[in-house]
Amino acid sequence: SQSLRLGVAGLGTVGASVVRMVARRAEAIAAATGREVRVTAVCSRDKTRDRGLDLTSVTWFDDPVALASSVEVDCVVELIGGSEGPAKATVEAAIAAGKHVVTANKALLAHHGAALSKAAEAKGVTLAYEASVAGGIPVIKVLREGLTGNAVSRVYGIMNGTCNYILTRMEREGLTFEACLKDAQALGYAEADPTFDVEGFDTAHKLAILVSLAFGVEIDAEGVSVEGISAIQPLDLTMAEELGYRIKLLGVAQVAEGGIEQRVHPTMVPKSSAIAQVMGVTNAVTIDADAVGELTLIGPGAGGEATASAVVADIADIAAGVARPTFGRPAASLAPSERVAMQRH
Ligand code: NDP
Ligand code: HSE
Repeated sequence: SQSLRLGVAGLGTVGASVVRMVARRAEAIAAATGREVRVTAVCSRDKTRDRGLDLTSVTWFDDPVALASSVEVDCVVELIGGSEGPAKATVEAAIAAGKHVVTANKALLAHHGAALSKAAEAKGVTLAYEASVAGGIPVIKVLREGLTGNAVSRVYGIMNGTCNYILTRMEREGLTFEACLKDAQALGYAEADPTFDVEGFDTAHKLAILVSLAFGVEIDAEGVSVEGISAIQPLDLTMAEELGYRIKLLGVAQVAEGGIEQRVHPTMVPKSSAIAQVMGVTNAVTIDADAVGELTLIGPGAGGEATASAVVADIADIAAGVARPTFGRPAASLAPSERVAMQRH
């Protein structure tokens, strides 16, 4: 069968890892999907920087929207970031041109996921986003495909690697918030604007995506109440420790009277609890479901290789032609967010 030709827009922490992984795992991907998968086009702002990538016989584009509509590309991998601007224009152009899309962009999905999924469905293309929540943890697949027999009542956990990394190092090493954030940025964990991490918005975006999958509703990012970790001082962590607690930034969504409650805030968790053991860039997502009971997925929440792992899984699904509807069911059948109370399944 014909090869799947990838256009990778964005060659930063995640994009560069994806290009490397697709080359490194070419044989395994072909064996798993029955198709050759290769990068034929790339785009970033700076063409001159050495990114340690072998881009021989790959076409460079200056404009990601031009890449998205190129006849050399079957599947656009959007790794630019941001809910508006070039990332949104790229994904919209790709769908309009009838290309599949893989993205790690939770901000884009949280704000425009409903419209984009409808557009993708109308064009008969796949919009895949495993990497958008909890980095390397395949939580989208679990919620979308693994739990169809269940009614989910709650989804919660640690969904931002940067915040958990900061809290861990502040607690263990007594470092300042600012010093820890700087290191998280240097390691490629933080968002381009780290306010999204530390003020809780990134966790809110991820939670809103999980809510759509878990409860069969349209994403309602504005419906999440959000408080971040920027006000937390080393003293708060010491006091919590003395009382037998750790502080974690949690995203929590649960079925409540009148709707789905969605909230993000720092939480005191008992030191003996499983979630208190989750340290550093690691994320943990717990799902309460009626048939399976409580299920917890733990793994790396950020970083180039871990995130590329999720991106490549989506690419392989597209190559194999096995992708399910974006949010687990046809876009038109998702309940509007104001009707969430009625729509739990
Ligand atoms: P980076 O900032 O490292 O990379 C962004 C890339 O986009 C860069 O290569 C940049 O080009 C390119 N870019 C920016 N603007 C344009 C433009 N107008 N035209 C063309 N290229 C452009 O981001 P990350 O790799 O960290 O993140 C990418 C996406 O993945 C984001 O949506 C992020 O939220 C998400 N994500 C990130 C994770 C992580 O651990 N880093 C984990 C999970 C998701 P140049 O290099 O030339 O500046
Ligand atoms: N900035 C995000 C985090 C990247 O730290 O979790 C992964 O989505």
